[in-house]
Amino acid sequence: MTAKIRSIASAAGHEAQLDLAPRPAHGKLTITEVGKIYDPQGAAVVAVSDCSMDIAAGDFLAIVGPSGCGKSTLVNIIAGFDNLSSGEILLDDAPLATTEQAPRPGSDRVVVFQNGALFPWKSVLDNVMYGPLVQEVMTHREAKRKALDLLRRCGGLDRVAEAYPAQLSSGMQRRVEIVRALMNDPKVLLLDEPFRAMDTVSKTTMHEHLLEMYHVCRKTIVFITHDLEEAIFLADRVVVMTSRPGTIKTTLDVTLPRPRTAALLASEDFRALKAKLSAAVHEEAKRAFERGEREQA
Ligand SMILES: Nc1ncnc2c1ncn2[C@@H]1O[C@H](COP(=O)(O)OP(=O)(O)OP(=O)(O)O)[C@@H](O)[C@H]1O
Ligand SMILES: [Mg+2]
Repeated sequence: MTAKIRSIASAAGHEAQLDLAPRPAHGKLTITEVGKIYDPQGAAVVAVSDCSMDIAAGDFLAIVGPSGCGKSTLVNIIAGFDNLSSGEILLDDAPLATTEQAPRPGSDRVVVFQNGALFPWKSVLDNVMYGPLVQEVMTHREAKRKALDLLRRCGGLDRVAEAYPAQLSSGMQRRVEIVRALMNDPKVLLLDEPFRAMDTVSKTTMHEHLLEMYHVCRKTIVFITHDLEEAIFLADRVVVMTSRPGTIKTTLDVTLPRPRTAALLASEDFRALKAKLSAAVHEEAKRAFERGEREQA
């Protein structure tokens, strides 16, 4: 039977294929009782404590929680930028980070932050080709073919392949960064507040584009945000972390159907999920605030 291809007119004005790619075979994350203490011999900041979650390969998970609750710490440990103090993280059932084994950055996990990281002196195409060329995992011809193909499939960005970052809007630059992150075919894509600095309208467009990329090149995604609507609109599950030391307060399953379009934002189901999530997050934000007040007193 031929699969029915659904499409909508995207914000960029082109027809986007939105059937979700099949679940990938790799990219399962098992996070068990992870703790992180910064400066254990000195100030001993307990950033994360007893944090456990399972993320299936190809799932889109969002993490929300009060400022300073350890969201970036967790992402940095998964990325291999920092070690953990207790617990373990497995990637596809193999140890990624344990107390005996410091995690290492690898091309199987890639992070996109809120601050732009494109080389301003390189064209879009050269930026996207950069990683695999420098790591010598592709020939120039292979990298170019793959970069142009990915750019095209991710919202028709091949149209700006010869442009330089400064010639693009910040939203477009962020999309190119995500395409660049996909070049090495990572198992896990870690996004730490990638759209934080954007206005609401640009963000909505970015969400549409990100979901399009997710539908085309399905990866395990861990998405950190403070924006509750963003978390619900994008993710399959939203994890709420407690105030520091961050642990899992609750997990919300987002049962909204895919493909998701902006019309969902006005639906009753969406509003109900948002009310539930807001209540959990605000309780923790209040707790963090009150603790801050006490610590300063
Ligand atoms: N290198 C470090 N040394 C000491 N403490 C740190 C370090 N990095 C982070 N922290 C502390 O660990 C806690 C968690 O920080 P983290 O950046 O992970 O929080 P976050 O949830 O990402 O916050 P935000 O929402 O503001 O980005 C904070 O109290 C922070 O001050
Ligand atoms: Mg952070």
